Amino acid sequence: MADIPWQAGDAYEAYMGRWSRHVAQLFVAWLGVPGGRRWLDVGCGTGALSAQIPEPALIVGVDRSHGFLSAWQGGSRPPADKHQSRRDTARTQAGPAPAQAGPAPVQAGPAPARAGSPEVQADGRRVQGGGRWGLVGDAAGLPLADARFDAVVSGLALNFVPRPEAAVAELSRVAAPGAVIAAYVWDYANGMPMMRHFWAAAAELDPGLGERDESLGYAFCRDDVLAGWWSDAGLHAVTTRRIEIPMFFRDFDDFWTPFLGGQGPAPGYLASRSPAQQHDLRESLRHRLPVRADGAIALTAAAWAVQGRKPG
Ligand SMILES: C[S@@+](CC[C@H](N)C(=O)[O-])C[C@H]1O[C@@H](n2cnc3c(N)ncnc32)[C@H](O)[C@@H]1O
Repeated sequence: MADIPWQAGDAYEAYMGRWSRHVAQLFVAWLGVPGGRRWLDVGCGTGALSAQIPEPALIVGVDRSHGFLSAWQGGSRPPADKHQSRRDTARTQAGPAPAQAGPAPVQAGPAPARAGSPEVQADGRRVQGGGRWGLVGDAAGLPLADARFDAVVSGLALNFVPRPEAAVAELSRVAAPGAVIAAYVWDYANGMPMMRHFWAAAAELDPGLGERDESLGYAFCRDDVLAGWWSDAGLHAVTTRRIEIPMFFRDFDDFWTPFLGGQGPAPGYLASRSPAQQHDLRESLRHRLPVRADGAIALTAAAWAVQGRKPG
């Protein structure tokens, strides 16, 4: 895959974050981790998954994108997302650690220190107490000490890491004995019609597209592959499940406009095309989509999820 743009949090939220939040809600419920635990969210982006975590004692987000981490650090709600649970809204209003300007290696807010609270070593600095901490880092080389978290999760990110197996080994390394380690990715090959229609229209106009088409480039995002990575990392009680969510678009513009935000593979590809090519792609897509008589578009998306336990 070519370099993928991840930078503008608002544009990402409108394009993908709003859907990841719905998967995350079902995913976190599936994990069944009680409140008061130490969580790590790798490839945390703007916080779609972190926002669903119930009452963590500590939550650390790691991402390569400074821009996304700023949004994560603020715990901001996307303007496009009007369907969040009351619990989430209450937590956002309670106000997590404020964002700090600039691409500091550790962006940490004033985490309240508590007796008996966990500690995390990050880039040589000591993160103490509970609260919310955002770190710039690579999933395949986490800036964290061993065995510190009760739950290590990742949403829609592992397929973007050049060596996902190395990332899974890292997720395991920083997990405490007995911790749950879990992730989800889109079922790009068979469960992402939003992108399938986009790439089908693109391929018709650009025969050289190849594996930029995510249904080809990320065809490895399957339950058996995820289970293999988890087992190879030495994790126990490995299980997978398919998570389906409805994707509802008011009209074609509601579908199309987020692709113009430039975040992720398809919007990044679109931005690389000329205005005339973008126009042709848009019109081809308009005719491919199952637009209802009232103008709305209703799709179903599916993600594969995996979880396992660190021995001990
Ligand atoms: C599709 S977004 C998912 C964000 C968020 N977890 C969600 O579910 O909406 C992919 C995220 O992975 C991050 N990412 C990509 N490669 C990474 C790497 N090697 N290490 C850490 N984060 C990475 C990107 O910056 C981006 O935030």
